[in-house]
Amino acid sequence: MRELEQSLDYHNRRYYIDNNPEISDIEFDRLLAELQSLEALYPDQADKNSPTKRVGSDLTTEFQSVEHRFAMMSLANTYSSEELGEWIDRIIREVGEVEFVVELKFDGTAISLTYEDGALARAVTRGDGRRGDDVTNNVRTIGSVPLKLQGEGYPSLFEIRGEIIMPYASFDRLNTEREASGETPFANPRNAAAGTLKQQSSQVVAHRGLDCTLYQLAGDNLPYKTHWESLEQARSWGFKISQHTTICRSREEIEAFIAHWDEARKSLPYATDGIVIKVNNYSQQRSLGSTAKSPRWAVAYKFQAEKALTKLLSVDFQVGRTGAVTPVANLDPVQLAGTVVKRASIHNADQIAAHDIRLGDMVYVEKGGEIIPKITGVELSLRQSDAQPFEYITHCPECGSELIRYEGEAKHFCPNSDNCKPQIIGRLEHFVKRKAMDIEGLGGETIELLWENGMLGDISDIYHLDALRLSALPRLGEKSAKNILEGVERSKSVSFERLLFALGIRYVGETTAKYLATHFGTMDALANATTEALAEAEEVGQKIAVSITEYFANDKNRYIIERLREAGLQFKVEEKHLLSSALTGKNVVISGKFEGRSRDDMKALVERHGGKNIAAVSSNVDFIVAGENMGPAKRQKAEKLGITILSEAEFMALIEGDNSTEQTPHNAPTPSPTRQTEEAVQGSLF
Ligand code: IVH
Repeated sequence: MRELEQSLDYHNRRYYIDNNPEISDIEFDRLLAELQSLEALYPDQADKNSPTKRVGSDLTTEFQSVEHRFAMMSLANTYSSEELGEWIDRIIREVGEVEFVVELKFDGTAISLTYEDGALARAVTRGDGRRGDDVTNNVRTIGSVPLKLQGEGYPSLFEIRGEIIMPYASFDRLNTEREASGETPFANPRNAAAGTLKQQSSQVVAHRGLDCTLYQLAGDNLPYKTHWESLEQARSWGFKISQHTTICRSREEIEAFIAHWDEARKSLPYATDGIVIKVNNYSQQRSLGSTAKSPRWAVAYKFQAEKALTKLLSVDFQVGRTGAVTPVANLDPVQLAGTVVKRASIHNADQIAAHDIRLGDMVYVEKGGEIIPKITGVELSLRQSDAQPFEYITHCPECGSELIRYEGEAKHFCPNSDNCKPQIIGRLEHFVKRKAMDIEGLGGETIELLWENGMLGDISDIYHLDALRLSALPRLGEKSAKNILEGVERSKSVSFERLLFALGIRYVGETTAKYLATHFGTMDALANATTEALAEAEEVGQKIAVSITEYFANDKNRYIIERLREAGLQFKVEEKHLLSSALTGKNVVISGKFEGRSRDDMKALVERHGGKNIAAVSSNVDFIVAGENMGPAKRQKAEKLGITILSEAEFMALIEGDNSTEQTPHNAPTPSPTRQTEEAVQGSLF
């Protein structure tokens, strides 16, 4: 088994780090299979960093929050050659002659790897810089992260930091898959990398094609004099260190490096967003020190967002499920930041007018944070004399209704929500999608087919589909009909929170739906809540509150809701996932900052022990858990109403005292309250 591990580790390195495999994938898989079967036979001999761990597992993990031994800082940014020059001058003024290490700035998500005696012990995300999430199992699946180090001379305990990135090839493959299955594609490789790292199943991570490049060693009393030396060492232990890192001795050399990579980065297989310049010598680094946020010995030079210039061929107007009209530009296909761009958004009429965009113009496109790139300007010097300004449409391109513009909204809307096809289809598609009711078999095309045949007018019709009529439809047949009906049946047990999201109430996204579900508990409580009561709930602003009350005030929606109720959908939060029933029926206010956990973690604990989170102190509240700096007004009100105030420790004792179902999921030791406090707490509450 040890021999197989070594051989697999070696070939893994040849493949992922050196890009120079010696054996075929089939041979590699054969060795892996052999080790897997031996591990199945002798589980107690299996190494926790065995190469078989790269395959991942489908067990879901809760990520523990872990404190970083050394804070993970960020870098100060510069955007121009002048700013960079000032930084360099300051460094030279402070420490004299200096050597810089200049690196690419990888656009992914930061990771800190801890190695103990040459084996990967832990991988932690940056988090807030002081604490991050333990994502070790997921990181183990990344081929370029060594599970065991090679060579010698590595410190017995050290951390190495770098970036987890998703190369363009993996990113494109993932987004194509997501689009095909009706999921929202990731906006950019950075989001995709960060999202993947937080996947609950490491098996999924293993298939996403992540990569990891390292750029900083951290440890107590590291025996190296320079950053460069430590990178060289790390490379010799099997880490992937960028080949493009170099040493520069002057501002001119740095500028030449920047000028080269500003262009050359366009042919890299992964995203970069700048250059990082670091003082090489560790003792100079130490004398320069750090501010609260970033080291003074390093700086990032950010590239301008990549731009492409191409011809605007035509503009389509799309109507979404909410009736919002979005202009979409069709472009002469052009290469931009790793992908070919054919369409771009222009957002709204004001923007078209502001840029004076005309058909046939050469326009600039940029990738922002969104999925579809944006048009950011027009190259007027290239405008043809006959370029025609175009008029923004006044009527819905789908149903012909006159468009309206609400006050304060940039977009035009088609008000014909009941009869405008893309709105009806859009609502149905939203309802069945994976994150909502997840009804397999009901894809976009099928929905359209059913709508055209008068079988689907609104979402409640989904629960009145008939097997005979379905299988009589062209292109469907008995098997697909059965598939659809089974999916529909299964969706009846989808949780209340997902149903709320699926309804497609304007502004109610996944997170708000979840919040509303736990806060109100049942469909009726939500439907009957006043705008004021809704707006008072934390995370629900006035805009969302109005939208929810309007939704439930609409007769048609009331009718749909009643039909969904009759069909047997989940109209209240489920209780089966509770860790205990210590807080069942209790209304709890979480207020202030806590030592061991974030406020959100505290709120999640309340829910998972059966309690309900309440935002405001009122006579309905059973108790308040007060952290540091709870507002004095809140405290006064609580005291006036005679509501019990618990400390974090008292609260933990309370929920841990009732571990009737399972253990509580946290690792930070909690100061256990004295018996007296515990009794006092329980006595006063229950
Ligand atoms: S050094 C103390 N080097 O940029 C700072 N960071 O805002 C240590 N990054 O969080 C970071 N490429 O995620 C460093 N070659 C590089 C980098 C790099 C990308 C990211 C990193 C960091 C962020 C800084």
